[in-house]
Amino acid sequence: MTKVKIIFGDSQNMKEVENDSVHLVVTSPPYYNAPFDFPDLFKDYDEYLNTLRNVGKELYRVLQPGRVACFVTQDVRIEGKLYPIVADIIEIMVHEVGFEYQEKIIWKKPEGYIRISRRSGVLLQHPYPMYYYPDNIYEEIIIFKKPGEFDRKRVPPEIREMSKIEIHKFQKEKWYLSVWEITNVLPSNKWSKYTAAFPEELVERLIRLYSYYGETVLDPFLGTGTTCSVAINLGRNCIGYEIDLELKEAIEERIPKRTLFEEIDVEFIIREDAKRLRTLFRERIEKRLHNSVQARKL
Ligand SMILES: C[S@@+](CC[C@H](N)C(=O)[O-])C[C@H]1O[C@@H](n2cnc3c(N)ncnc32)[C@H](O)[C@@H]1O
Repeated sequence: MTKVKIIFGDSQNMKEVENDSVHLVVTSPPYYNAPFDFPDLFKDYDEYLNTLRNVGKELYRVLQPGRVACFVTQDVRIEGKLYPIVADIIEIMVHEVGFEYQEKIIWKKPEGYIRISRRSGVLLQHPYPMYYYPDNIYEEIIIFKKPGEFDRKRVPPEIREMSKIEIHKFQKEKWYLSVWEITNVLPSNKWSKYTAAFPEELVERLIRLYSYYGETVLDPFLGTGTTCSVAINLGRNCIGYEIDLELKEAIEERIPKRTLFEEIDVEFIIREDAKRLRTLFRERIEKRLHNSVQARKL
């Protein structure tokens, strides 16, 4: 039976998960204090990196040797300053936590789907050198391996068959390239507006490429529950951590109660360190938007 465990609490502590029990991590950490996603979530950049360091140590503990952790992320610009999140995560995971740096994939979004304001317009107004500010249309998927060898020969033949990757899709959608072109999630409902959710298509590729049927996928920053929803549909078990209890309803909506063949065993745990964040974020974002509209009017 497919098992799902959702824990509301801080993933710097994953005491509910045993050592070496997870087969794949797929996650998208908060984008530091990105003004339109996580305004003032962290006191400063050091506190942010420290959170990622602690989560990284827990991921290393719970992941099986030879298996991988995939982080979907991007550098963030706040009030003109660019924070090198990708470089810092690689530095921390490799030099401090002990992972091996295995792969980098660029997730390219379609040009017309930019969520945040276009910077490139500046050059249209001032067509001269030193007015160049490109619009960002990609994120990075950085993949780390816990040292050790995964023994492919120990996978039972029927599980191997059930996990077979469709070569037709692999070729047609160009999974074989290190640049993946996938449409991002636009703010279309009350959840996706304030959560920076990643697309199911991206999660599906990672789960299919790096885990077998019946294995366990973990997301330490679950958000609206994308990773668990896709994992269940692909016959994988899932564990998710989310600090914001206000996302419980969103996650519940996305977790099916049963698949075509079986019931799903879903367990929700609410820890004392869970918080309530979304209402706070929404108020801060709306205030910011209001202030910037007022400033433009003056
Ligand atoms: C970029 S979002 C993830 C979005 C998710 N991939 C989805 O598709 O909805 C990051 C999430 O991490 C959560 N978060 C931030 N700090 C956390 C922590 N210490 N422990 C657990 N969750 C945390 C945030 O509340 C946010 O929902």
